[in-house]
Amino acid sequence: MAAAPRPAERPPDLTTTRAPFIEEARAQGEIYIEQPYELYSPENQSTWHRLLERMHDPWARYANHRFLEGMAKLHLAPDHIPHLDEINRFMQPLTGFRARAVSGYVPSYIFFDCLRRREFPTTVTIRDGAHLEYLPEPDIFHDVAGHVPMHTDPAFANALVRFGTAAAAAAERAAGSAQDPEKLHRLTSNIRAMSRFFWFSVEFGLMRSTPERPAGELKVYGSGLLSSFGEIAHAIEAPEVERRPFEIERVVNQPCEIDHYQPLLFIVDSFDHLYELVSELERWMRDGKLDDVAPGEPAVSEADLASFLRKH
Ligand SMILES: [Fe+2]
Repeated sequence: MAAAPRPAERPPDLTTTRAPFIEEARAQGEIYIEQPYELYSPENQSTWHRLLERMHDPWARYANHRFLEGMAKLHLAPDHIPHLDEINRFMQPLTGFRARAVSGYVPSYIFFDCLRRREFPTTVTIRDGAHLEYLPEPDIFHDVAGHVPMHTDPAFANALVRFGTAAAAAAERAAGSAQDPEKLHRLTSNIRAMSRFFWFSVEFGLMRSTPERPAGELKVYGSGLLSSFGEIAHAIEAPEVERRPFEIERVVNQPCEIDHYQPLLFIVDSFDHLYELVSELERWMRDGKLDDVAPGEPAVSEADLASFLRKH
């Protein structure tokens, strides 16, 4: 039997964590890249196909109807990985949002500031087809099939922009903090609060299907759930999951749990409600009410802090 080819001999592809094109871009410090479409291998294409096909039924059952409408508007096809340019042609006229290819992790100020400009930093690599559920980092399926359809909804898009203005408020407050431990603590806390809010809404949020009926059915709008074959049903059906109304105080002090299914999820009534909540978050920030949130996940890295401090 022939030995498996060593990585150096493998034909180029765009598999998560082992794409030379991406490693090179990162080594050059390039955050924004072009989507190198010709590098997707047949295996990458087949992974996309399998991922999209198997979500068909769970989405029909559990996804928020705005997501399903967005999916239809973007014309995502199971037979090929989408070209970001094509998606943007459909999306930009709807809300001004566009998907912009990035080489990987984006420091948090840069990420939020992209949202303010209606750009969504979008991963172009795709997970290893041998491990469809395992995700060492976001991939194009999570970003494009999980996030991007939501960006066709004007109220949701406005809520994302509002995260960007909240981040700008945090950067403004942090001006001149680099040498002041107390101010750095404050900034770390502000970033942690925003990240938790984002996590429990944009990534893992639930919504009432009919806001006027508080006991109405729950649907999923969080992209971490929408892109997970296993967790989407668990989020709605599992009796052990705690599902609570979205309260800012609770959310910003709630450490994220990142490597297993979420035991605690938060519910909003509508995307207008979400927008109001993000606006309230910004007010809390300006009033100093996010300066000392509970410690714990997510970690705030040096790169995250520097991205806020460089702003001024
Ligand atoms: Fe995400």
